[in-house]
Amino acid sequence: MERILLLGGSGILGTEVLRVLQQEKMEYVAPRSSDCDIRIRNLLIHFMQDFKPTWIINCAAWTNVDRAENSYQEACDLNEMAVENIAIAAESAGCKVIHISTDYVFDGESETPYTEDSLVNPINKYGESKLKGERALLATLPESFVIRTSWLYGVKGKNFVKTIAGKALRNEPARVVDDQVGSPTSAKDLAVGIVSIMRIQPAPGIYNFSNEGSCSWFELARKVYKNLGADPGLVEAIESQSLNLETKRPKFSLLNKDKWKAAHLGPVADWQSSLDTTLPEIVAELNQKGEV
Ligand SMILES: NC(=O)c1ccc[n+]([C@@H]2O[C@H](COP(=O)([O-])OP(=O)(O)OC[C@H]3O[C@@H](n4cnc5c(N)ncnc54)[C@H](OP(=O)(O)O)[C@@H]3O)[C@@H](O)[C@H]2O)c1
Repeated sequence: MERILLLGGSGILGTEVLRVLQQEKMEYVAPRSSDCDIRIRNLLIHFMQDFKPTWIINCAAWTNVDRAENSYQEACDLNEMAVENIAIAAESAGCKVIHISTDYVFDGESETPYTEDSLVNPINKYGESKLKGERALLATLPESFVIRTSWLYGVKGKNFVKTIAGKALRNEPARVVDDQVGSPTSAKDLAVGIVSIMRIQPAPGIYNFSNEGSCSWFELARKVYKNLGADPGLVEAIESQSLNLETKRPKFSLLNKDKWKAAHLGPVADWQSSLDTTLPEIVAELNQKGEV
């Protein structure tokens, strides 16, 4: 029987992983960051000695892309050093690791979807810190799994789709960039994929996962407005440059999923159908929190 230590179980992705673990009646613990701060190696080792996991799923991360520019060391503490802690603790306990990474390890200059072997070249500090984390994990525990994903959204936590859904339901206008292209990824779909890695145990290494198809942030926002019965005309397309943001973001984020599919890790749903399935739950969450 597998025993799973889920880290970051309160985040966008972690809450969906938790849900799948519960549905599948798997044995798990999902400590809060206040109970198991993964930057403190001994705390992590202590947790592992108590629970004796066979797998660690790491959904914990520093995810504030803009703040990483001026708080790079703090971002690295979580995205690199803590991941190394996980690798060291897992190695000594003989436990396997699934770790989540990002399309931001790429510079966005490609015109074809990035494969797992494409040249990495992060253009912001968050991407740099995440790349360092991948490398730290695979250097210590090469038999680990790293899943690179993009444009993650879900019911819990702060994310683009949820923010835009709130604006749509309040009939507010939104100005959204139209010059960055990617694949939205439903945290629900990725969570199912993560559990399928434990079940299938393909060759270790890096795997890409996002939903199928592509759009710009503007197109995604318009689809959310349309789905929720709001006027898509309220969404205005703008160029990234006009936002004067300090942090660079890749303008092209598509990930090639051939390796995922060849390993039979499960279906890769179209982004639009996954959005259709998830939006009602997002709306219910916004209502419950009194945000709309
Ligand atoms: N969001 C995206 O668009 C996106 C895109 C591509 C890849 N990713 C990657 O996907 C993964 C999941 O991201 P997400 O958006 O679901 O993250 P998130 O919602 O920001 O959640 C981050 C999680 O990390 C936990 N955490 C923070 N500091 C910790 C610490 N010191 N010790 C233990 N846990 C700690 C948080 O717990 P508390 O709530 O207790 O602080 C929270 O559960 C990350 O690896 C991220 O880099 C995200």
